[in-house]
Amino acid sequence: MKKGVFLSFEGIEGTGKSTQARLLFELLREKGFDAVLTEEPGGTKIGRKIREILLSPDHQEMTPLTELLLYFASRTQHLAQVIIPAVNRGAVVITDRFTDSTIAYQCYGRGIALHLLHSLDNIATEGMQPDITLLLDLDVETGLSRNRGINKTDRLELEDIGFHKRVRNGFLELAAQQPERIKLIDASLEKEEVRKRVLDLVLDIVSS
Ligand code: TMP
Repeated sequence: MKKGVFLSFEGIEGTGKSTQARLLFELLREKGFDAVLTEEPGGTKIGRKIREILLSPDHQEMTPLTELLLYFASRTQHLAQVIIPAVNRGAVVITDRFTDSTIAYQCYGRGIALHLLHSLDNIATEGMQPDITLLLDLDVETGLSRNRGINKTDRLELEDIGFHKRVRNGFLELAAQQPERIKLIDASLEKEEVRKRVLDLVLDIVSS
């Protein structure tokens, strides 16, 4: 059976990755691809409930380990219910965030040990990774102010600037370690230019 393509968008807050994910999804559909647009945390009914728990600013008492386990709980359900069936039928699956976010936010941001992350990842995803990851990179101040401009203030966004800088640094280190999979895109460019760069990187893969 022909397998599909699994693709993720990653980045800190305010990079425009959700907009770019949607633009790519719409373009692939126009071109006749069986494309699926989904997100983490979320993507399923259970995942959306977990998302509410994770992002509510009321849950300040949440421990880093609880947070980590909830992100993986959402991911396990997402894989079983949405991602794996779609990839197996040959679809192009676009997810707005996946495990790279957990490494950047929970390990680099919160300080969870990488070996713990890898153990859980082996259980929850069996090490499944996207075929290609588009990492939209932007400086932290610009990203946060873009999001505050649209009144987006969830529990993680309310973290201090140092946290967000560690997260960005985490993403950049991942990109440096895995340049074949993780493609860095300058998110300070015009939306149209970012869209073109995304498309250049993706069309080769989905058409092959
Ligand atoms: P979003 O705002 O891009 O939808 O993402 C929701 C928030 O969850 C965002 O602040 C990043 C955070 N997050 C993690 O901390 N770990 C994860 O594994 C994922 C998927 C998201």
